[in-house]
Amino acid sequence: MDKKRKHLLRLGTGVAAGVGAAALAWAGTAANAQEPSTDGGFEIQVIGGQEAEEGQYPWLVALGYAGEGDPVQRWFCGGSVIAENVVMTAAHCVEDKDPEDLAVFSGSVDLGSDAIVETAVEEAHIAHDYNEPVELANDWALLLLDESVDVEPIEVGTEPTEFDTLEIAGWGLDETAQYPTVARWAEVPFVDDEACAEAYPGWIDEATMLCAGDLENGGVDACSGDSGGPIMARDEDGEQFLAGIVSWGTVCAEAGSPGVYAEVADFNSAIDDVLDDWDVDV
Ligand code: ARG
Repeated sequence: MDKKRKHLLRLGTGVAAGVGAAALAWAGTAANAQEPSTDGGFEIQVIGGQEAEEGQYPWLVALGYAGEGDPVQRWFCGGSVIAENVVMTAAHCVEDKDPEDLAVFSGSVDLGSDAIVETAVEEAHIAHDYNEPVELANDWALLLLDESVDVEPIEVGTEPTEFDTLEIAGWGLDETAQYPTVARWAEVPFVDDEACAEAYPGWIDEATMLCAGDLENGGVDACSGDSGGPIMARDEDGEQFLAGIVSWGTVCAEAGSPGVYAEVADFNSAIDDVLDDWDVDV
């Protein structure tokens, strides 16, 4: 994989507001993705997913530009509410933006719904070691909201573990190469560090990245616009927790090229420090 390519894909981040060249490149990828299959028992039809039900992921939010008009025209990334006034997202979603230019859309899986609540962002914290030791390592950021949002937060995972199946959700490109108005979700097989490093030689920082995808068949993945949103696992009680943050992939849903996520268990103490600084109780 050459550097330029990865860079381009990174620029493809949520471009619903102005579908540019990078997005079109993505669209091509999505349209060429493998036909749906049910190999491996994963729900195939995000790419290879299905529409989320209202209330399925209360903590799921879209991140967009502050301003006037329809959230559908303004969002560009996903995020997760981790405390009543804090959203976790990807560093690459917010690195070049002022907090005052940002808005968080919560309250519905349908960005076109009247139930969507828009909240301003007071402060953004971008991981100090973002892009260290490799590009897109430590791809996480926290947003302090102007006001609390009335949604159930998701717990942040604390143990770096091997997972079995994970779940992703967001408003990124789907298998028809469209940005859906209603969030989509999918189950994705976990890919261990070794296999992921093999898929992306030199690009994987095992300490801060987690990979998921159907290595053999492809067909299920996050894609452009899902960045910043959650990849989730379940604890022993079946409760979902945040295992990672959608970060990057060279293509979407192709065999051999898993999606790469920021592994939140690795940043626990850094997250706590920021929350302490902001006087936030979790
Ligand atoms: N960088 C993309 C975004 O900003 C996320 C890409 C995830 N891609 C993937 N194949 N899993 O929305």
